[in-house]
Amino acid sequence: MDNRPIGVLDSGMGGLTAVRELLRVMPGEDIVYFGDTGRVPYGTRSPEIVVQYAVQDINFLLRHGVKMVIAACGTVTTTLPETLTEGFRFPYTGVLHPTVRAAAAATRNGKIGVIATATTIRTGAYERELKKLNPELQVISRACPLFVPLVENGYVERENPVTRLVAEDYLRPLREAGCDTLILGCTHYPVIAGIIGDVMGPGTVLIDSGKAAADYARQLLEERDLLAGGEKPGSAAFYVSDDPLQFSQNAALFLGERFRGTVEKVEITEYPDTIE
Ligand code: DGL
Repeated sequence: MDNRPIGVLDSGMGGLTAVRELLRVMPGEDIVYFGDTGRVPYGTRSPEIVVQYAVQDINFLLRHGVKMVIAACGTVTTTLPETLTEGFRFPYTGVLHPTVRAAAAATRNGKIGVIATATTIRTGAYERELKKLNPELQVISRACPLFVPLVENGYVERENPVTRLVAEDYLRPLREAGCDTLILGCTHYPVIAGIIGDVMGPGTVLIDSGKAAADYARQLLEERDLLAGGEKPGSAAFYVSDDPLQFSQNAALFLGERFRGTVEKVEITEYPDTIE
């Protein structure tokens, strides 16, 4: 048993898709969330910059005494080198491995679409890991760089004409290829899952990378006997690198009544860019 909090990071509010699931599957856990709202988006930046930012974010969480780190960000997950993450002295998961396992289990026709940020798609990580699980899978990948700014700016309601138009353009090749499973490889995308699902049609299963990571985090903590004890509901503390009010409004919209806890601004650039 371990009552220390779980640390979750993302470039902005996308990681709240993982928090939503963590609250569901582990309601007794405390959560410390860092959203790098002052430096979002990560998904258009070079790998060197993403690694530097992600390491600062992880150091921030470690100084808050977390027992594990979840990179609830597709871009961070696919960009941090395994040589680094394998050396972590704390339990760590990103979204990649849990998500590809869920997608490979869900597909019936073997055609899997992957949508994510440009940086993530450039790494080829989703395709590589899916093919490791099953070399027969056909994988069609597409970067959707406008989705993150649309979500961060609140263009998320199901009938939003701007987001619909963008989604139709991005998703057309995936629909035409007949993908029966679509990986939402960026944790911002489940926020507009309604629109994505409408455009893809009812025959496509959407795989939420935030949910897959939260489910896997539970398994990892259980295996290592690190789940929190006691009956009381967990608390959540949110930290951001830009305006806390803006984040609170977006988070409340997104998590609804499950959004409780404080939001504070931090100077993330003051944290070291090598793991402490
Ligand atoms: N939510 C993140 C991801 O999963 C980051 C998006 C971004 O900052 O570009 O990739």
